[in-house]
Amino acid sequence: MFDTMTVTKAAGAFIGALLFLLLMNWAASGIFHVGSSGHGGEGEEHAQAYTIPVAESASAGDEGKDAGPDFATVLASADAAAGEKVFSKCKACHKLDGANSTGPHLDGVVGRPVATVEGFGYSDGMKAHGGDWTPEALQEFLTNPKSVVKGTKMTFAGLPKVEDRANLIAYLQSQ
Ligand code: HEC
Repeated sequence: MFDTMTVTKAAGAFIGALLFLLLMNWAASGIFHVGSSGHGGEGEEHAQAYTIPVAESASAGDEGKDAGPDFATVLASADAAAGEKVFSKCKACHKLDGANSTGPHLDGVVGRPVATVEGFGYSDGMKAHGGDWTPEALQEFLTNPKSVVKGTKMTFAGLPKVEDRANLIAYLQSQ
């Protein structure tokens, strides 16, 4: 039925087809590899895919610290001379020579117990506030006096900038 030549042709065609498929497969994976190594060759995408999560977790950590009670760090590098300028906003009501005016005098206010200046008529809110004016308590109060000490007589909007508060407290500490 089949002569040798037919078998050889059939086998040749079969092997040829296999070879063709192998070549196609190789070519396809070659193209795929070129594509993917082209990707890797661009590098940045790959590197970013790896570094972004690292950067995110690092910045998330930093943000956590910035938002958190890291005031001591800001205060440690605060500038008392700049704080003296910030104090010009307080001068209308506060003196640093031991005399009360609209507000109680602020000599040695850092670390002083709250609402304890002799002869000054504090509001009930301030008297109820309690504690000491630690740098942390001061910076919290000065951020927004009316929300921190309910019913305070101190009509002052607050110092939104943490650097201003730190510099001011450094200045008050030096007095
Ligand atoms: C408009 C006047 C006014 C200004 C401006 C003002 N204060 Fe006051 N401050 C007061 C009055 C009044 C009180 C007493 C508040 C009370 O009894 O509720 C007070 C209370 C305080 C206290 C509490 C003192 C204590 O003995 O417990 C601190 C601290 C303070 N002020 C700091 C400041 C600082 C710092 C600034 C500037 C950033 C400032 N104030 C600006 C009027 C003022």
